[in-house]
Amino acid sequence: MSTFILGIESSCDDTSAAVLENEWIRSNIIANQHVHHSFGGVVPELASRAHQQNIIPVVEVALKEANITKKHLSAVAFTRGPGLLGSLLVGTSFAKSFALGLGIPIIEVDHLKAHILSHFIKVDSNSKQPAFPFLCLTVSGGHTQIVKVESPSNMTIIGSTIDDAAGEAFDKSAKIMGLPYPGGPEIDKLAIEGNPKAFSFPEPKIQGLNFSFSGLKTAFLYFLRDKLKTNDQFIELNKADLAASIQDTIIRILLSKLKRASRETGIREIAIAGGVSANSALRTALLASADKLNWTTHIPELQFSTDNAAMIAIAGYFKYLNNEFASQDITPYSKSKFA
Ligand code: KG4
Ligand code: ZN
Repeated sequence: MSTFILGIESSCDDTSAAVLENEWIRSNIIANQHVHHSFGGVVPELASRAHQQNIIPVVEVALKEANITKKHLSAVAFTRGPGLLGSLLVGTSFAKSFALGLGIPIIEVDHLKAHILSHFIKVDSNSKQPAFPFLCLTVSGGHTQIVKVESPSNMTIIGSTIDDAAGEAFDKSAKIMGLPYPGGPEIDKLAIEGNPKAFSFPEPKIQGLNFSFSGLKTAFLYFLRDKLKTNDQFIELNKADLAASIQDTIIRILLSKLKRASRETGIREIAIAGGVSANSALRTALLASADKLNWTTHIPELQFSTDNAAMIAIAGYFKYLNNEFASQDITPYSKSKFA
């Protein structure tokens, strides 16, 4: 008999619901909140309100598209954290009451582990899943980690950022250039026309497998401030080259640590996950490294790179198989417990 998991994701500014039949995707609905664009970043209070408005319609569409009714559901998996507390409370409270009404269990999911487990969602017979153990470079708006994954429930962080996340490096650089939020996709688009070697920015010297991006942001800010003193059109005239150069630097920082992690662990099964894994140049650079280093790579479909509930449902499915259910008095957490 099939297991149907409803996944709920509400950690930041996307309200998402998805249905999985065992590992197979049946629906993955994502409502983006456009209300934040004019503020240049996510406004937590507005995000919670938008989740409250979106959650019921998004779940209804997810069930309809999956061609099932709520009576078919085996369990409800939800993001417990990390994320914005007000946003998480909406998803958590919804999951609890919906499941209670249906008399089915709830499953708590860590958002960062779910990004990694998104590689196990089956879309068609060509879906290729990573073999254990594998390394996952998780790059999102809030986190940058290299994780050694030995099983769905056994993951160890072997490197992480000591300050900004890679997504923040993209978003803050874009903001400095006057581009709209979120800046990552904007830089990605502009960079296609630009020369990645036009400008060079310093790479941080951080020990081991850890990352740092705050120095790069400051270097970029000071570089532009100096250029603008003599040419107030500097950004406008060099937009594509600036985007390509800052993107290239971020990717080089990420890949040099990933290569080191592969060397040190001897693992050549390599995955990327999280919003920044949608970046086209990162994907290309990863494939080029894979060719040289004999890596087997796993790059998520775009719908599973950025925040989505299908990844919450697959993480929930693995816990369902182990009877790992949460109790009704569970509360969300804003900081990651996965460390
Ligand atoms: O995983 P995600 O959707 O949300 C978090 O859990 O944070 O990641 C969002 C981040 C943002 O910083 C956004 O700018 C970045 O992912 N992002 C990208 C691209 N698409 C999304 N960064 C670079 N290139 C992209 N194409
Ligand atoms: Zn995320």
